[in-house]
Amino acid sequence: MMQHIILCGGSGTRLWPLSNRQTPKQLLPLFEGRSLLQLAYERNSVACNSVLAIVSEQHASIVEEQLLGAGAAGLCMLGEPVGRNTAAAIALAAFVSAPETILLITPADHLIGTPEIYAQTIETAQLLAAGNSLVTIGLQPTYPETGFGYIQYNGHDVICFVEKPDARNAARMLQSGDFLWNSGIFCCKAGILLQELKQYAPEIYEPAALAADEWKRSGRLSLEAMQAIPSTSIDYAVMEKSNRVKVVPSTMQWSDVGSYEALAEALVQHYQYQNHQAVFIESDPLNNMVIGKEKLVALVGVENMVVVNTPEALLIMKKGKGQEIKQLHQWVKENR
Ligand code: GDD
Ligand code: MG
Repeated sequence: MMQHIILCGGSGTRLWPLSNRQTPKQLLPLFEGRSLLQLAYERNSVACNSVLAIVSEQHASIVEEQLLGAGAAGLCMLGEPVGRNTAAAIALAAFVSAPETILLITPADHLIGTPEIYAQTIETAQLLAAGNSLVTIGLQPTYPETGFGYIQYNGHDVICFVEKPDARNAARMLQSGDFLWNSGIFCCKAGILLQELKQYAPEIYEPAALAADEWKRSGRLSLEAMQAIPSTSIDYAVMEKSNRVKVVPSTMQWSDVGSYEALAEALVQHYQYQNHQAVFIESDPLNNMVIGKEKLVALVGVENMVVVNTPEALLIMKKGKGQEIKQLHQWVKENR
């Protein structure tokens, strides 16, 4: 049995105004009433017998409520007064776990459409982790995304790991056919992770050890202790450098729900998605997505639209423009 580590620190800027600082993407009950966080818990509840959620303090109570609502047994929460990225969050998780425990570390905000393939993938990852590897799940890339990690591989062996390449390198790696995307799901023994962290990122290991000690003593993490940990991701800190990294290539259907387009596709593909409070005249309800229960939305003769109707704002967006939302959110933050 493994321990499930849920990374739940996302700030949710790419699905504004549906998600915002109070309610990031992973907490929205969009999937037949359940949130991505709850789905992440459920999908791992057979392979894992305990759950440790690393969350920003601000969301701790709603995260706890949602996890208990999903039936989480053996739940432990670690609230961060400030997020210091995934290397810090994962280091804390490893420090508060027994060294031989196998950790299954997953983001709270991904959607996986093929539970059987996922289960097989995780079984293989667990076996490799038991043999002291740092295991990551790899996916067949479909476009030259620059926001992901790329893994050059041979079977389970990793030749190299490249985090967030520039556009030219992403295109080159995609074309070569030798690379997988890093899914951001990791599996390893707590002690092995710490050993690698100590070797390759002592500047994170040392202050994270102190922060974890403080948490063990007092059940809290102070702002000072967190701020002492440099902010970087586990991908840069360990995965790019360690020789213990192995990959499990998987054909599971995976989405990081990083845009409205991805959300719309996931909802239509895997959930009997019902547009909220909407009426369509000469408009296709499958090509248009309406979210929001504020008031009736009527679409007449338009295609490929996303309409998000919340008390905070009304968003009207043509599909294909989802990457502009981050910028839009920035504008709103600065000007409103
Ligand atoms: N608790 C906590 N604290 N969680 C955090 C923090 C933090 O400070 N920072 C990020 N997380 C959580 C996010 O909520 C998300 O669920 C997960 O950790 C990954 O962080 P992202 O910020 O979304 O990483 P990314 O998308 O840039 O890159 C990672 O994921 C890609 C796949 O989606 C990398 O692992 C890439 O290599 C990978 O391809
Ligand atoms: Mg991400």
